[in-house]
Amino acid sequence: MFDFSPQADAPKSEIYRDLREAALAITSDESDSVANMANVAALIWQFLPDLNWAGFYRAIGDELVLGPFVGKPACIRIPFGRGVCGTAAVTGATQLVPDVHAFPGHIACDGASASELVVPVVVDGRVVAVIDLDSPTPARFDDEDAAGIEALAGAITRAISG
Ligand code: SME
Repeated sequence: MFDFSPQADAPKSEIYRDLREAALAITSDESDSVANMANVAALIWQFLPDLNWAGFYRAIGDELVLGPFVGKPACIRIPFGRGVCGTAAVTGATQLVPDVHAFPGHIACDGASASELVVPVVVDGRVVAVIDLDSPTPARFDDEDAAGIEALAGAITRAISG
């Protein structure tokens, strides 16, 4: 059993540090990337408030394919360059979107989503996956969230790209 105890009222820097340490602990002895992505998605959901979707898309060929996540069933395949996730995959850059309805080509998987944060997971300069967080609250994510998820992505790269 894994028993992590996120502190909802802690500063974001502490929440992200604890999330990263939990993710490293839970993935360190496991080589299966699907199992690791599933547990990291569950940890993100457990540690971060006010989300309606949290999970992974994997870069396969020239598209993103749905990976482990928590939330409502979602679009399965997203071509590179399409939507927020496809933009992150093509540019290799974090996408911080305060209002998804203002993002050209945003793909609405869950109508409740109002803001979104997508962070690429990069191996040897190549995007192998993206971490996608959606919130029902407009402008839910800020630069600290982006930095926190980027640090998480860096910490779990090996664990999810096997
Ligand atoms: N909104 C994303 C699609 C994935 S869902 O949010 C889970 C996008 O525009 O790429």
